[in-house]
Amino acid sequence: MVRIVVRVGGSVVASPPNPVLIGRYVDLLKDLKGQGHEVVAVVGGGALARDFIRVAGELGLDETNRDWAAIYVSRLFAHLFVMRLEDAGCGIVPVSLDEAVACLKRGKIVVMGGLKPGMTTDTVAAMIGEKVDADLLVKASDVDGIFTKDPKKYPDARKIDELGLKDLTQLFEENRHKAGIHQILDPEAVKIHRKGGMKMVVVNGFKPENVLLAVKGEKVGTTIK
Ligand code: UTP
Repeated sequence: MVRIVVRVGGSVVASPPNPVLIGRYVDLLKDLKGQGHEVVAVVGGGALARDFIRVAGELGLDETNRDWAAIYVSRLFAHLFVMRLEDAGCGIVPVSLDEAVACLKRGKIVVMGGLKPGMTTDTVAAMIGEKVDADLLVKASDVDGIFTKDPKKYPDARKIDELGLKDLTQLFEENRHKAGIHQILDPEAVKIHRKGGMKMVVVNGFKPENVLLAVKGEKVGTTIK
């Protein structure tokens, strides 16, 4: 048995909302559970969350409330997962780490969204991973892994197959002014990982089977140890 956190990118299932992919992720989470693993998924709000952040801003709401708008969008996506999971899920979207742990202890698949303002769902995934002492965190992102530079902007960007947490921190430093590399994995989340011993794999989430490959330990995406 392996305890797994799957961070489902909003850029993958929610930009725009994609019922086919959401359905495939629900099946994948059930597959992992069926293989005997403990599973927590953390879903982001993607482009829809960013739309709501903009709308909240235009309404004159402050940053905390803009974040809340995005958090509710991510929870709405998580709620779709929970409803589709039926009995395999715990019927609610946990809004605290303790609630998530309680759901996991009931032998259910946990699906959550954002937790509180001022962070990203990457950080939520890192926090719950740390809390339940997860063995593995797989981030299903919209790129093939971590690159030397933002691959959407730099054609000469190279995918990195494996790197250490220290190298990742250095990469963030080098790319401080090149937004994009930061979006693949929130540096705040990486700080939490530095404390724990959780293995992390970033894969292209448009092919959900990549998550299964990562769980099997096969070479896919970028592995961070
Ligand atoms: P993410 O950037 O985590 O969502 O949160 P995402 O769409 O899944 O990201 P990618 O692109 O696929 O990796 C979007 C925003 O929601 C707010 C923040 O403003 C964050 O930038 N948020 C999210 C919070 O404030 N707290 C949370 O716990 C989660």
